Amino acid sequence: MKGIVIRKADPGEYDAVERFYGKVKYPGSLNSTATVFVALEDQQVIGTAQLCPEAGYVALRGMQVEPTFQGQGIGSKLLEHVVIELANQPCYCIPWSHLQAFYHRIGFEEITAQEGPVDVRERYTRYRSQGLNVILMRRV
Ligand SMILES: CC(C)(COP(=O)(O)OP(=O)(O)OC[C@H]1O[C@@H](n2cnc3c(N)ncnc32)[C@H](O)[C@@H]1OP(=O)(O)O)[C@@H](O)C(=O)NCCC(=O)NCCS
Repeated sequence: MKGIVIRKADPGEYDAVERFYGKVKYPGSLNSTATVFVALEDQQVIGTAQLCPEAGYVALRGMQVEPTFQGQGIGSKLLEHVVIELANQPCYCIPWSHLQAFYHRIGFEEITAQEGPVDVRERYTRYRSQGLNVILMRRV
């Protein structure tokens, strides 16, 4: 973590975040209304996460840390910033099932599809039907 800065991204850094997503082959993109967090080393993006405002809730999406920097606490630190930003707003995420404990650490609980808002439910169902081993989680 030495020399690594984690903070909210400036809009001027969004292109760099998109390039980072390309580099790590994340299939999604930056949501134009999202609050974006970045981890930077030497001013280069090495990790990111987005909080996307939706109707009545927030979605946590696009959480990625560059492979060579994984397992050093950067993802956990990004989540600390996410928690501060969220305060008590309800938030949903659709993580890989093996990351259940990682998101549980900051208060996400696994829920059934029926417990999610309709668009979250649809997204979750789509991912599952594509064979992706994801779960649905909520933090209130
Ligand atoms: C998941 C991810 C964001 C975590 O970031 P990170 O900087 O590596 O995370 P940290 O070093 O802060 O914490 C590591 C924790 O992540 C969890 N974790 C990460 N990879 C894991 C894996 N393959 N299996 C199980 N747990 C895993 C563990 O809980 C681990 O805790 P531990 O070190 O006490 O065992 C990062 O590994 C990543 O970008 N992975 C590839 C993309 C991805 O899966 N994104 C999330 C989509 S839901």
